[in-house]
Amino acid sequence: MIYIAPSILSADFAALGEEVKRVDKAGADYIHIDVMDGTFVPNITLGSPVVEKLRPHSEKVFDVHLMVEHPETQIDAFAKAGADIITFHAEAAKHAHRIVQQIHAHGLKAGLALNPGTSVSEADALLDELDMVLIMTVNPGFGGQKFIPSTVRKIQQLRDMMNERKLDFDIEVDGGINPSTAKEVIAAGANVLVAGSAVFGSDNLAAAITSLRG
Ligand code: DX5
Ligand code: ZN
Repeated sequence: MIYIAPSILSADFAALGEEVKRVDKAGADYIHIDVMDGTFVPNITLGSPVVEKLRPHSEKVFDVHLMVEHPETQIDAFAKAGADIITFHAEAAKHAHRIVQQIHAHGLKAGLALNPGTSVSEADALLDELDMVLIMTVNPGFGGQKFIPSTVRKIQQLRDMMNERKLDFDIEVDGGINPSTAKEVIAAGANVLVAGSAVFGSDNLAAAITSLRG
């Protein structure tokens, strides 16, 4: 089963509630919410109060991607705001295991994100605990960037690790996903596909979502 998670980073920020409803009706499985702090990545997007206001607009899974330093300071607020999955970056976490516990204590799914320059071995010690690993297929910070092909091998490595250890977690990819790169990442073992510009850049959201399912 392939899940499509449109990223609202490419939506109209002046009408986010309507945009979330629109992409929900168009068949999104998850709503991917990119949180950027201007420090871990150069851009600033939104915080937990915005997520709280968006929550009544959709019952779909809220997939919160924290691109922030000190993620442990944000998790309780995003949990309260209505997140279903919280993903933090390995590169921003001093105590990644404790952060996973913190997310699980709220009854939510925990994801670990890896930048293109970070090896999958960074996730190895946590794989028994994680619900999802997010392989960044661009460097985080902006929508509309070009897919980095060397990330495909990391998806395969992670899928092999999962099979060898008989584990079950989701493999999410994020950045530069379009119908052609979607095929590649699905073949490599990804099952949750984030797409910003490929969905919101289209005048037919439903068709754009369907075209990513492989
Ligand atoms: C990048 C964000 C992505 C972004 C993807 O830092 O994490 O979720 O919105 O945008 P596209 O699909 O346009 O590359
Ligand atoms: Zn993202």
